[in-house]
Amino acid sequence: MISKVKRKKIIVGNWKMNPVSPEEVKKIVSGIKKVAYSPRKVDVVLCPPFMFFEMVSKLLKNTKVLFGSQDISGEEKGSFTGQISASMILSLGGKYSIVGHSERRKEGEDDVLVNKKIMRAIQAGITPIVCIGELVRDDHGEYLSFLEKQIKAVFSGITKEFVSKVVIAYEPVWAIGKTEAMSPHDIYETSLYVRKVLSQMYGMETSKILSILYGGSVTSDSAVTILNEGNVDGLLIGRQSLVPEDFSKIISYANTL
Ligand code: PGA
Repeated sequence: MISKVKRKKIIVGNWKMNPVSPEEVKKIVSGIKKVAYSPRKVDVVLCPPFMFFEMVSKLLKNTKVLFGSQDISGEEKGSFTGQISASMILSLGGKYSIVGHSERRKEGEDDVLVNKKIMRAIQAGITPIVCIGELVRDDHGEYLSFLEKQIKAVFSGITKEFVSKVVIAYEPVWAIGKTEAMSPHDIYETSLYVRKVLSQMYGMETSKILSILYGGSVTSDSAVTILNEGNVDGLLIGRQSLVPEDFSKIISYANTL
């Protein structure tokens, strides 16, 4: 018999290369402090730029907020200038790392490297938030085979036991940094498809425990409909995670579900 699984909601804030100063960091953090103490039904994960990582985690000490990095190295340690390892993130109290974000892929990261980073994260005890998503959407369903190929490539050689420690973020690249998110209906259909591919790879039981988030131009308004109708377990939020009122609204709403 297949058991019913209730997956906890996850709201991730990806600050990207923002803000520019510690003063601004303080402002943003003080704006979300109120909700930072309250989330219980939802895991809130903040991914600030690495240089602000310690500062943000100190400012939010004793709150329920969790921390993650925006990227990690595919290597364990050594002569890799400019890179940060999964163990370093862990030693600073980080629990997550975004892996394979399309903005990293634009810089040349491929599925092989993303695969390596997923392994490194899991081995170090960090949860990788694995970004997948098509570059464009066509009328003939080619984006579906793109997605299938990408999922198979990034999880290649990753066992059932390992994959159960992963969070997936479906982020259609064409919907990132725009004015509108993808429609909840399309998110619903695509998340079903992603779970179907994972179920073919790992079996239904395992696919059911995996959290699938949506990311791409989410606002505090669209967050409500996406969380209600999009069949996803949370959101990966870029720009709106830098606007404390909006980010707080999203967290508060997710906390009611
Ligand atoms: P956006 O970014 O919310 O600003 O579109 C999302 C992301 O890139 O993770």
